[in-house]
Amino acid sequence: MGSIVALSDEAWLRQSRPSGLWPLRGWAGNVDHSTKDVTTKGRIGIGPRYCPGMKILITGGAGYIGSITAKAVEAAGHIPVIVDSLLSGPHAFVGGRIFYKGDIADRSLVRRIIDEHPDIDATIHMAARIVVPESVALPYEYYRDNVAKSLELFDELVKLGKPRVLFSSSASLYAAKAGFEVFEGDPLDPPSPYARTKRMMEQVLEDMAEVTDLRAVMLRYFNPIGSDPDLDYGIYAREPSHVLGQLVMAARGQKDAFTITGTDLPTRDGTGIRDYVHVWDLAKAHVRAIEQFDEVLAEADANSVIINVGTGHGVTVRELVATFEKVFGHDVPVNEAPPRPGDAVGAFANADLASELLGWRANHSLEEAIASALAWGEKRKEILGYE
Ligand SMILES: NC(=O)c1ccc[n+]([C@@H]2O[C@H](COP(=O)([O-])OP(=O)(O)OC[C@H]3O[C@@H](n4cnc5c(N)ncnc54)[C@H](O)[C@@H]3O)[C@@H](O)[C@H]2O)c1
Repeated sequence: MGSIVALSDEAWLRQSRPSGLWPLRGWAGNVDHSTKDVTTKGRIGIGPRYCPGMKILITGGAGYIGSITAKAVEAAGHIPVIVDSLLSGPHAFVGGRIFYKGDIADRSLVRRIIDEHPDIDATIHMAARIVVPESVALPYEYYRDNVAKSLELFDELVKLGKPRVLFSSSASLYAAKAGFEVFEGDPLDPPSPYARTKRMMEQVLEDMAEVTDLRAVMLRYFNPIGSDPDLDYGIYAREPSHVLGQLVMAARGQKDAFTITGTDLPTRDGTGIRDYVHVWDLAKAHVRAIEQFDEVLAEADANSVIINVGTGHGVTVRELVATFEKVFGHDVPVNEAPPRPGDAVGAFANADLASELLGWRANHSLEEAIASALAWGEKRKEILGYE
């Protein structure tokens, strides 16, 4: 690949750390572009060396992906500013960072944050309710928090002259597709209120970007798993509902067995297919996107753009279990059951656009991601105070 995305984590962290030799510059748009490393279309080379010290507002930065993204942002020499209501994210995940406890829809709080940090360059908007079955039971809360509150945030950011928004969207928007590989332009069919809130926010961002100063890069995450390299952050739910969390619990004897829900689906072995992306790779995709925000949109020739963030490989549940057992070193007790209502067959990413626009590809293997999730399972009590 010939770019820093191909480096090991250790090398990436080393290269990304700000050094006294690098001049402190503002946002990439203000950078002296004559100093850019113009290898590979002048984009992959626009790394941290050229814009260290950016300040990035991260909503939902106490959450699973937000805390790990904040760490990747720091590792690249930038400063995260966290706003989180702690609705679900633990306080332990914001330790040592600039942190505002509050709601994204609290305009006076957003004004205060920007007033105290006028050098914020961009916002990564991750704050949301994210539990799919809960969204079926609590549609009002999901549309209010994910849609209405995001609207208040975006409008306030535009008013404050902070128009760059990187938005956490989801692969769960895609309609079922033969072959399972999905491209950004493929038909959508969000199956739950949660997924519909994500699609609505994509549309809101697209519409606002047409007529206001707001500019949006929207990342459709596939299935993030694992922890950061130091095991500081990870899944914090007491009983994680997603497949890997369930596997870790079954492996650690915290539940009797792992249940495969759906064994008669139209995939190669009848079980659901997903694209598991190491959360540290996902976090680094955000760093790429914020460092090159204006260039990404210029290259896309648009005021907003949607980008898949996945590995490009589909893994069935049976394949996941087999790989998990290999990494874990023991069999895991497995039951089989019919699919739950709303369970999707699944999809995997075509990740070419992320490579083209962000210079990003996933580096970590499924085995590494599983090992990371298992290691976090061992460590998390120390950090969270519960198993
Ligand atoms: N985890 C996944 O598999 C996945 C997949 C696709 C997309 N996403 C998206 O990524 C983002 C982060 O997901 P996550 O897994 O880290 O979830 P998370 O629940 O761990 O983090 C969300 C954070 O937002 C905070 N929050 C919620 N509402 C808020 C509000 N009104 N004001 C301030 N803070 C608020 C919560 O306290 C929490 O810390 C979400 O937008 C989610 O929809 C996640």
